Amino acid sequence: MIFKRRRQIYNNNYNISSLKKEIRTFAPQFLIMKKLFIETYGCQMNVADSEVVASILSPEYEITDDEQSADLILINTCSVRDNAEQRIRHRLQELAAIKKRRPGMMVGLLGCMAERLKQQILEEEPTLDLVAGPDAYRSLPRLIEEVAAGEKAYDVILSRTETYDDIMPVRYAANGVSGFISIMRGCDNFCSYCVVPFTRGRERSRSPHTILTEAQQLLADGYKEVTLLGQNVNSYRYEEEDGTVTTFAQLMERVAQLSPQLRVRFATSHPKDISDELIHTIAKYPNICKYIHLPVQAGSTSILQRMNRVYTREQYLERIATIKRVIPDCAIATDIIAGFCGETEEEHQATLSLMREVGYAYAYMFRYSVRDNTYAATHFADDVPDELKTKRLEEIIALQQQLSLEHNQRDVGKTFKVLVEGASKRSEEQLFGRNSQNKVVVFPKGNHKKGDYVNVRITSCTAATLIGTLS
Ligand code: 5AD
Ligand code: SF4
Repeated sequence: MIFKRRRQIYNNNYNISSLKKEIRTFAPQFLIMKKLFIETYGCQMNVADSEVVASILSPEYEITDDEQSADLILINTCSVRDNAEQRIRHRLQELAAIKKRRPGMMVGLLGCMAERLKQQILEEEPTLDLVAGPDAYRSLPRLIEEVAAGEKAYDVILSRTETYDDIMPVRYAANGVSGFISIMRGCDNFCSYCVVPFTRGRERSRSPHTILTEAQQLLADGYKEVTLLGQNVNSYRYEEEDGTVTTFAQLMERVAQLSPQLRVRFATSHPKDISDELIHTIAKYPNICKYIHLPVQAGSTSILQRMNRVYTREQYLERIATIKRVIPDCAIATDIIAGFCGETEEEHQATLSLMREVGYAYAYMFRYSVRDNTYAATHFADDVPDELKTKRLEEIIALQQQLSLEHNQRDVGKTFKVLVEGASKRSEEQLFGRNSQNKVVVFPKGNHKKGDYVNVRITSCTAATLIGTLS
């Protein structure tokens, strides 16, 4: 075999990374792998992207969870709010100290902050050796070579086609039960406050074939749940060469049909695109989870208009009414921004009243953070004073706390099928998992283990957790 490979290498039709892969499979003792530490900030898309990066670098690097001994540290970043960026800047200061002790170590910045700040951040943060935007991860081996040759390296070119669809992610941080599958990239919605269309580029969908292959691989590896990921999965649309089109509802149906034992989730949805077809598909399959994350952002039509969300309060509430009618046991979650440009007290009250009307099970809540170059930054004044933003956010959080508690209280006495994710934080004698509605359920261990489906009867709750017994 060695002679055959030597000839192939000589003839230039075999590459080094394939050779390394073979050595790793057949004779791992001869391969010294370098160590890669990846730290991920922000959304689930970033978690999925870090797994793609681990895969791209796997011929040379193995993952370590010890940053002190890493040869390469990659920080996968988020730009969606200023405080996310500040945290990362702070982290880079800490890494500077490690790098001083280990001068051969490389540090790279990936993701949205890399894309937003481009090569300029190499000057601002001397700890950094390389910068790669979300569509540039295939260039990482080349960028690393450039750094090894003594240069600073970057690639922040956005692509209209890159979906990394042929790359099987290395799920180095997954729990072995639940895995993410990225089904599309980018966003074309240009909500006026949001930096994502600038940092992640145009929307593009990945082929259904590669998505299904990845889901099948997860099933074969013993996973019990997949989450289909995109900035706006409802606008997923893939056209084959013969003109056949797959919509998101059709894609999800095909994933759900792989096995009734595989739970399917998705994140996240734009209210303007959540179709009746999709709502009926969720209702039809018991293994499609009864949980919809439908970010509303604000409760008044006037703010929604300034946010360029392209729906009114009434249109949003109509979608909610349809969801509740077709899927009565569906939990609905949302995102809310407090203190957007020009927000009046009346508009803030409209957000609170919408929250009550929907009765959200859960919400992700934020203070508005102005992002350079967005429409809101260039056309509206960020004029809600800081203290008022904080006060409004606190009111929103307090209300959601009450709504979550009430939502959970309605579950007391019900029995749910729970997918076990592991031991509860509080006690080894307790397990935790999630029900279809994405609620965390804690219950006694019995004979059960991670990855089992268990029927649990709910006996009590807090705002964050359902507590139950085996039924
Ligand atoms: N300020 C505050 N929150 C924001 N989000 C997006 N951009 C901003 C911003 N500039 C929130 C939205 C979005 C979530 C991912 O982050 O609620 O749904
Ligand atoms: Fe940002 Fe709006 Fe796209 Fe969501 S839909 S990523 S909020 S631009």
